[in-house]
Amino acid sequence: MKGLILSGGEGTRLRPLTHTRAKQLVPIANKPVLFYGIEELAAAGITEIAIVVGETHQEIRDAVGDGSDFGVSVTYIRQEAPLGLAHCVLIAEEFLGDDCFVMYLGDNMLEQGLGEFVDRFEKSREQTPSLMDDAGPSRAQILLTPVNNPSSFGVAELNADGDVVNLVEKPADPPSNLALVGVYIFDSAIHEAVRSIEPSARGELEITDAIFWLIQNDYRVSHQLLDGWWIDTGKKDPLLECNRLVLDTVVRRLEGAVDDASKVEGRVVISEGAKIVNSTVRGPAVIGANTRIENTFIGPYTSIGDECVVVDAELDHSVVLEGCRIDGIGRITDSLIGQHVQVTQSPERPQASRLMLGDHSHLELG
Ligand code: G1P
Repeated sequence: MKGLILSGGEGTRLRPLTHTRAKQLVPIANKPVLFYGIEELAAAGITEIAIVVGETHQEIRDAVGDGSDFGVSVTYIRQEAPLGLAHCVLIAEEFLGDDCFVMYLGDNMLEQGLGEFVDRFEKSREQTPSLMDDAGPSRAQILLTPVNNPSSFGVAELNADGDVVNLVEKPADPPSNLALVGVYIFDSAIHEAVRSIEPSARGELEITDAIFWLIQNDYRVSHQLLDGWWIDTGKKDPLLECNRLVLDTVVRRLEGAVDDASKVEGRVVISEGAKIVNSTVRGPAVIGANTRIENTFIGPYTSIGDECVVVDAELDHSVVLEGCRIDGIGRITDSLIGQHVQVTQSPERPQASRLMLGDHSHLELG
């Protein structure tokens, strides 16, 4: 079994961060979201992985390299434009050959491990033909979960026997509340499917349409209901939520220096070279390498990146990327702050806010 990770998306819903950074490299608990996907595939025993990359290919190559840090080998496939998830399969055909593969959306995070999902597919394929019903072995396996807003996803409809009978991408009038989660398994039948479908109204070759093509052509598509949480991290609030869920699982580790006037409470990681001076860090929280926290309160569910300086501030439920300076401001909450951002108190008169914000920034002043 091979792995295909899709990281070609432009991340328009995470602008302005994604003007300068691939959305798949935005950190969750100080680790790029894409790394969790690679680790999941590796843990399921999948070591031959291709990553489909777009405009941000160089940044992704620099971060992931040849995959050896993860114990896998990584091949990069360049997608010239975001033409859809099924288009990614089309351009990966040479890499995939006749093998079965897990397709994983690079900005999705799941609580459930991949191992059981893969085992289930492989077991269903190992059954002898005589034990199979007419439909034969499973040619694709999808993961489904109920959602409140099915119109924002691919949606599956099951019949009374629990078989997938209909699949539709972002339907205005959804046939069910079961959304397709961004993890799929396919065998080589999918190659014919992606060649047979037409682009959707949004101009993309939809994987949902390709899977529906399999069903219409009497290939068996099996499914599993998701166990635990799943988050598409492509927007600020889900990203903060994901950060919260992952921080809840971190193990306390203090590698940096904490002075006697400071308190570090609960699940907290203080990375190497970090300094906590006259401050409180109340977990769950992670503080990046070589970051200085001084006269500051860091509250629960906060990740501060490497090489930051946070002085005379209060922050909670926020993600701050590397190289930021936050100095002398009131409380910051529910915030996502990009790399090398400066948020400081101005000594100048008039006492007013002076802003230099990137395109598509969001600013809510308290
Ligand atoms: C894509 C798929 C959709 C799936 C979703 C999961 O949507 O097209 O079927 O439910 O991922 O995250 P997109 O992120 O392209 O809007």
